[in-house]
Amino acid sequence: MNIQGTAFRTIWLSTDGAAVEVIDQTRLPHAFVIRRIGTARAMAEAIADMVVRGAPLIGAAAAYGVWLAMRDDPSDAALDAVYAALLATRPTAVNLRWALDTVDAALTVLAPEHRGRAARMLADGIAEEDVSQNRALGDNGLPLLQAVAERKRDARTGGDDRGVVNVLTHCNAGWLATVDWGTALAPVYAAHDAGLPVHVWVDETRPRNQGAALTAWELGQHGVPHTVIADNAGGHLMQEGRVDLVLVGTDRVAANGDVANKIGTYLKALAAHDCGVPFYVAAPGPSIDWTLAAGVGAIPIEERAAAEVREVTGRTTAGDIRTVTILPADTPVANPAFDVTPARLVTAFITERGVATPAELPALYPEHDGQADEALAEG
Ligand code: MRU
Repeated sequence: MNIQGTAFRTIWLSTDGAAVEVIDQTRLPHAFVIRRIGTARAMAEAIADMVVRGAPLIGAAAAYGVWLAMRDDPSDAALDAVYAALLATRPTAVNLRWALDTVDAALTVLAPEHRGRAARMLADGIAEEDVSQNRALGDNGLPLLQAVAERKRDARTGGDDRGVVNVLTHCNAGWLATVDWGTALAPVYAAHDAGLPVHVWVDETRPRNQGAALTAWELGQHGVPHTVIADNAGGHLMQEGRVDLVLVGTDRVAANGDVANKIGTYLKALAAHDCGVPFYVAAPGPSIDWTLAAGVGAIPIEERAAAEVREVTGRTTAGDIRTVTILPADTPVANPAFDVTPARLVTAFITERGVATPAELPALYPEHDGQADEALAEG
């Protein structure tokens, strides 16, 4: 995607070939800072501290982390250690485990002296695959938005809303959350680029404000009309008929279609269900965990630091970045970072292989048939 006219991905190899570079997402939207990551340990820290975040990007970043480790020490012990260290960084996004398993399986069978080069190629492959999957998600989701635009044009809704497709999204499932294009925002970019009038309601997404800080920033860079709303506003807007569809990403989908995503997604799904608003989940294949029959109560939910709830960071009018406390001192805090939306609230998944209801999802991935059947039978 373009930033002030220059094409960027979220992760790439440095020009000297000795490190990985990423956009530091903890600094957006106030500063655009590129961070150089030269060791596996630094990559693990970058994932845990959310310098890089979003399920698909976490997977690609972890693969590059394995490369950095193998370049320095390609032994079996180092491979086991980097796998464990990276897997421990964030527990909910299954893309992390998928990427590590993919790389680990390919490297384990190689002699150590070949592992460095192979790990680099595997990480590049995972990054490229993410880009092509997300582009396909955009293509597959576009007809859903086109259908809404046509319906609204036919219905001759009056005023400013005429023919405009109003999408509500939560957190950031845009290109910043992936290597490029995004998942939930891929169909939005495809629609905008195709000349469809689209407008996005952006949930601010407390506590870390990925919507307000990241989604608003990247939509703005691409020129997509959008409005940031407080997290609690979505239900009201849906009741008033001002949301045509909800479109979110996911960190892990279970075989039955239960969806883990950023905390607050479940409440949006409930409101959408009550208001008859379609609720779509953009899910590339690596976000589906075929080993889990169901997600509710089974997908591990990351609990993050209390400081994320206790404090807010922003820019003062003088231009300084400041962090302030918003709670009474010593107030107890809980900070579950994700929730699970039951499959019954999901209208359909948008995948790189097409659009499918939760019940239809396994048929799109026949290579996981045995695994999915087993998981569903056990569940
Ligand atoms: O904690 P984060 O910012 O990594 O959470 C990200 C999300 O919840 C996204 O919606 C999800 O990873 C899908 S990203 C395409």
